[in-house]
Amino acid sequence: MTNGLPMSVPADGLPPRVRIHEVGARDGLQNEKTVVPTEVKAEFIHRLADAGLTTIEATSFVHPKWVPQLADAEQLFPQLADIPGVDLPVLVPNSRGLDRALELGARRIAVFGSVTESFAKANLNRTVDESLAMFTPVLAAARAAGLQVRGYLSMCFGDPWEGPVPVAQVVAVARRLLDLGCDELSLGDTIGVATPGHVQALLTGLNEAGVGTDALGVHFHDTYGQALSNTLAALQHGVTTVDASAGGLGGCPYAKSATGNLATEDLVWMLEGLGIETGVDLGRLTATSVWMAGQLGRPSPSRTVRALSHQEQ
Ligand code: HMG
Ligand code: MG
Repeated sequence: MTNGLPMSVPADGLPPRVRIHEVGARDGLQNEKTVVPTEVKAEFIHRLADAGLTTIEATSFVHPKWVPQLADAEQLFPQLADIPGVDLPVLVPNSRGLDRALELGARRIAVFGSVTESFAKANLNRTVDESLAMFTPVLAAARAAGLQVRGYLSMCFGDPWEGPVPVAQVVAVARRLLDLGCDELSLGDTIGVATPGHVQALLTGLNEAGVGTDALGVHFHDTYGQALSNTLAALQHGVTTVDASAGGLGGCPYAKSATGNLATEDLVWMLEGLGIETGVDLGRLTATSVWMAGQLGRPSPSRTVRALSHQEQ
């Protein structure tokens, strides 16, 4: 390694290109205790776009009391209007959220369901059935308005209250979200307990239930240091959409054992090494995460950010 990139040595059975769904500004920041100024969020997203990310989840139109950090969605979203050629999905739990997003011209939204009852209650104040009922008019109106809709599935591998989650339980909720009209599903390992065999078993289970791999993205939190291994297992299965968070920011305010997402830099380092195209400039991305770490007053947990920036522990 001489130029901030690994040597590229392709491996068999992997896709030529991966689309990174960057979640740092949403999943990453939603858990921050101190409110990050709107201008800092806007600069963060502009820098992520300058680094070559083309899907950047911007914010959430949720109840401001539930996620105070993202209460400035109305102020932030218009500040992103000048970013060309980048998709800026936003989270929307219900019709009220969709109305707010549509008012500002959002073109991509994500609903977020849980495969477990405990997390559905903690995160949405609903049962699984009630949350799907809440999403039904959102999906109908979003489709009518020509929006692209992602459906998140949380707790796909394990749940802090209910323990291990059977594949069949995930498959059942996945099918229902697709039937409601989601274009894509993101399989969330909210508390980071997945391991690679489990990832492959879930993807196989979904395929057997008629869910094609091209409709699936993966969303790994890195609690036990497994996110990158799990991603490789998903790539070997044919997945080409991977969620990650710049600098490894993140967590979920309603799931105590959730830490940050897979760091985008760690992901890009591996993909560069495998010769898989992402369009991301790793140097610029790392500089962005170092800058953001300065804004937050603590170092990035990403190993790649630390190695490339010689950031102090
Ligand atoms: P609720 O308390 O049941 O709300 O919360 P409600 O439907 O009873 O409404 C109560 C009041 O809230 C009403 O106002 C509504 O208008 C208002 P009132 O009539 O009393 O004046 N309200 C809203 N205001 C603004 N925007 C809205 C909205 N909705 C209702 N959208 C609710 C239900 C869904 C709103 C709440 O539970 C909520 O906002 N939850 C969001 C939780 C969240 O954002 N969690 C983090 C994202 S999920 C995640 O991180 C996991 C993921 O990364 C994948 C993974 O890792 O697994 C995606
Ligand atoms: Mg998450």
